[in-house]
Amino acid sequence: MPEVDKEGKDYCLNVPASNDGFFLKGCNSLDWGLKNRLSRIFNPATGRTVMLAIDHGYFQGPTTGLERIDVKIMPFAEHADTLMLTRGILRANVPPSYSKPVVLRASGGPSILRELSNEEIAMSMEDALRLNASALAIQVFIGGEFETRSVHNMTRLVDQGLRYGMPILAVTAVGKEMARDARYFRLACRICAELGAHYVKTYYTPEDFETVTASCPVPIVMAGGKKIGELDALTMAYNAVQQGASGVDMGRNIFQSEAPIAMLKAVKAVVHENLPPQQAFEMYQDLRKG
Ligand code: R5P
Repeated sequence: MPEVDKEGKDYCLNVPASNDGFFLKGCNSLDWGLKNRLSRIFNPATGRTVMLAIDHGYFQGPTTGLERIDVKIMPFAEHADTLMLTRGILRANVPPSYSKPVVLRASGGPSILRELSNEEIAMSMEDALRLNASALAIQVFIGGEFETRSVHNMTRLVDQGLRYGMPILAVTAVGKEMARDARYFRLACRICAELGAHYVKTYYTPEDFETVTASCPVPIVMAGGKKIGELDALTMAYNAVQQGASGVDMGRNIFQSEAPIAMLKAVKAVVHENLPPQQAFEMYQDLRKG
């Protein structure tokens, strides 16, 4: 039996109990576990994150740059704030000693050979907890052929997430026929947030992106999209965070870069330090040479 200690006497009576608001937009009323997981993904000091997305194989197989994740991605994955991937790749290629938070792709079904909006929930909450996930990501196809199904996939996952303290990232999917403008993304992001997503991933729009972030009551992370030049990608990331995004979830513009580590570090400087794009590009070039 341990010795009974003396009762404490220092009650700090002149210090009011802290009652701080949570640092992420729209998340103050969430439970402790949800906030704790979100605090792994988003840096509490900046309120932002750089997620490295490598989940493309769940519908399109071995994408350029992701042919061998053990060889091509894992050597620099520690530099990301968060890794977004599937549970299959996590178990197969990521050492359990990996210390960064993981966001797991939780929807799937159709391949690029079929109608992509015809998705289902593709993993259980039990497995997400077993894998120590920090959030689950699910595609939402607003305007897609199976719009209602994908929205209900998300709401079912949100219900499970609330039960177990698991944040849900809604990913606004854009079909070939859908406009990629601010009007569309205001609609898609707002629907995801209204129906319970804890944060939303969406594309940058050159016009009025600030109206997309302003009208979404929870944090938005910018999706990277197809590979473009490094300066253009850094400019897009800079504009997105300056216009209210809480970070980025980039894949191809990092892992298809000729110097992925340099690019990832430059993106982090843009996101967390507000480094202007030209300076970030010079940083990328310097790191690439070194
Ligand atoms: C596609 O839906 C996947 O979820 C990717 O995570 C997403 O597209 C981000 O990757 P990228 O920056 O390559 O577009």
